[in-house]
Amino acid sequence: MNPVKKTYILAIESSCDDTAAAVLENTLVLSNSIASQKIHEQYGGVVPELASRAHQSNIVPVVDQALKKAGIKKEQLSAIAFTSGPGLMGSLLVGTSFAKSLSLGLGIPLIEVHHMQAHILAHFIKGASTKKPEFPFLGLTISGGHTQIVKVKDYFDIEIIGQTLDDAVGEAFDKSAKILGLPYPGGPLVDKYAALGNPLAFPFSIPKVKGLDFSFSGLKTGILYFIQKKTKENTNFIEENLNDICASIQYTIVTILMQKLKKAVKQTGITRVAIGGGVSANSGIREALLATEGTLGWTTYIPKFEYTTDNAAMIGIVGYLKYKNAEFSDLSTVAKARVSF
Ligand code: KG4
Ligand code: ZN
Repeated sequence: MNPVKKTYILAIESSCDDTAAAVLENTLVLSNSIASQKIHEQYGGVVPELASRAHQSNIVPVVDQALKKAGIKKEQLSAIAFTSGPGLMGSLLVGTSFAKSLSLGLGIPLIEVHHMQAHILAHFIKGASTKKPEFPFLGLTISGGHTQIVKVKDYFDIEIIGQTLDDAVGEAFDKSAKILGLPYPGGPLVDKYAALGNPLAFPFSIPKVKGLDFSFSGLKTGILYFIQKKTKENTNFIEENLNDICASIQYTIVTILMQKLKKAVKQTGITRVAIGGGVSANSGIREALLATEGTLGWTTYIPKFEYTTDNAAMIGIVGYLKYKNAEFSDLSTVAKARVSF
């Protein structure tokens, strides 16, 4: 039997406010380093100009750390994979330029990776979840910038069958948290407080959107008006009810996501469902999805926390899959702020 050829991919992710680098030996993650940018907290959201500057300072140390942790020398690398889009242009440019220069310097292939494809294909990282999805499966990709339901027929045959018409679900979490005076990014905090509250304490309305599409801007406005009204009556309303408010917001968002997922399963007849993207770290969506295994007979794929929010390991797995197909980019490739599959 031929031994499996060892491929070492250095992956770089810089699409938003995390500078990340990882080294993969085939599908195995050897290192997964990340420098999160704290600077945005005080502004209540990502400031693009500050994000690109921070990427500039972080990229060399983060790549260096990823190589050291992996115990791999630059000369051993087979290829460089990087996020070419979608994302913030200034942020993408830092990773793109760095990846191009390194591939040129080392004389090894350059592989561009679509950020949202990576969130889905993260499931193929060795040990990413308890089981590997079988094709075809449905993917719910939920992050700070995207909300999509996709039909994954093969690694690189992914069809978007539903998406948000306005805000992304991560924005709904973050903006609701901001209304409550919580720091950015508020999603994980809403999740934390929600665990202690009553999800039925404050009913928020579920938007009526056709087909498999989503809308979250109405929910955000509904929450804003509700909080304004309640704090006028009682200035301590938020402090006194924070857990219940967060639980109610999370319950509403999870209900919206699950309603559409159920519709997608019915429409396609596919009962294998995977989640990906930063919001897939949310305990409410994880529990609701897992529960369908017993109640509806679905097979669900829930990634480990380190592969949900932005990370470079997910870029590395796509890099590896493309490397096997010799799908390389040349140095004329550019960063793309908006790009479809
Ligand atoms: O995938 P990601 O790291 O970056 C983008 O590509 O956007 O997603 C970040 C988003 C943020 O909106 C953050 O608040 C949300 O994921 N998030 C969560 C949780 N952890 C991260 N939202 C709800 N509950 C969580 N536990
Ligand atoms: Zn992301």
